[in-house]
Amino acid sequence: MDILVVGSGGREHAVIKALRRNDKVQRIYALPGNGGIAADAECFPIKATDIEGIVDFCKQRKVDFAVVTPDDPLVMGLVDRLEELGVPCFGPRANAAIIEGSKVFSKQLMNKYGIPTASSRIFDDPAVARAYLKDCDYPVVIKADGLALGKGAVIVNGVDEALKTVDDMMVNKVFGESGARVLVEEFLEGPEVSVLTFTDGNVIVPMVSSMDHKRAHDNDEGLNTGGMGTVAPNPYYTAEISEQCMQTIFLPTVRAMNAEGRTFRGCLYFGLMLTKKGPYVIEYNCRFGDPETQVVLPLLESDLLTIMMAVRDGKLERSMVKFRDGAACCVVLASDGYPQKYNTGYQIDLPETEEGQYIYVAGAKLADGKLLTSGGRVLGAVGTSDTLDRAIESAYRLARKIKFENAYMRRDIGARALKALKR
Ligand code: AMP
Ligand code: GLY
Repeated sequence: MDILVVGSGGREHAVIKALRRNDKVQRIYALPGNGGIAADAECFPIKATDIEGIVDFCKQRKVDFAVVTPDDPLVMGLVDRLEELGVPCFGPRANAAIIEGSKVFSKQLMNKYGIPTASSRIFDDPAVARAYLKDCDYPVVIKADGLALGKGAVIVNGVDEALKTVDDMMVNKVFGESGARVLVEEFLEGPEVSVLTFTDGNVIVPMVSSMDHKRAHDNDEGLNTGGMGTVAPNPYYTAEISEQCMQTIFLPTVRAMNAEGRTFRGCLYFGLMLTKKGPYVIEYNCRFGDPETQVVLPLLESDLLTIMMAVRDGKLERSMVKFRDGAACCVVLASDGYPQKYNTGYQIDLPETEEGQYIYVAGAKLADGKLLTSGGRVLGAVGTSDTLDRAIESAYRLARKIKFENAYMRRDIGARALKALKR
């Protein structure tokens, strides 16, 4: 089979390596892929958001199955277009991808169907938002309605900051039209858990849970990033909480989407907060998380392509999805200065990996056969082992061997998870 994977990050590299484990897979095309992915797939310089370009590519080549992982092409309806062409896809159609594409939509969905989430107000007029914010209890969270590269949620502690955030989003349009509407949300507290699931719109099967580390610096300080590292499983997510989430969140969400005529097929990602009142939904994503995928897929024992095809065909069964015991840790190596200003173009030296170690490349390009840095998050160094402490050690052992000039990494990925395990 010839498979198309749309996207260019570490997540896509992990997906491609997992798909490669199936003997039936012959070619994998990556659009656009990156310099590291080029070792595992044929990359073509067509952007993930170039819907017409991707459609043309599929008209010219034999593509037996397509996997669409980034949020924007999903929200833009790439799956709808490819399915019309007769290319079966893994990924939701646009009318279901809206669960990530509009936070107003997802908030209204949760409220309508009684799915636990922070209470909130929706504003489309900056003057009304300002009036509300002058007279509310702090902290609150202000969120842009649409996609904003994971930067559209701001925790604000007082009126001045709140008014500035509203101006940035609604008036100065720092996130473009994504900020034309905003939500002002109750501030929740508790450990955060990421749960990726496979669902065919009927059956929903959670993958192993994980913990992201979104802040740039150690001890969760610094700016929010796309994610500086992950561990799986997440020790806060017990079997009991998992069962509670299935009953109060996962199944109700799948049923709610069906009831709205928006059946979701693909990977539905639940960003949860374990509050004193129980698990709450912080966000939905219509796709695999990055860098969660980099710790989840190495622990997947079952064949990814078989699962993805079953999801597409509405034939998913629980028994198809098995994870091995053990743990994984991903340490992201970034260009120093990320997520703000940073330099690129430095040569990357990749070491040999040991058993259970993986390198997933995100921001790198090939030039004259050399791998050069080209982005903020450059790659993920992943270690897996039977216990979390060994997985963390393995990931850092690998990360320290990877060299490029302005490499930066957090030193405490997994530290909080280890502490929680020892409680
Ligand atoms: P989001 O873009 O909705 O995923 O939010 C990004 C991050 O902001 C989350 O991972 C949380 O750490 C934080 N956050 C979002 N909503 C809330 C909330 N209601 N209360 C506390 N923190 C939140
Ligand atoms: N790691 C969070 C996300 O993929 O949105």
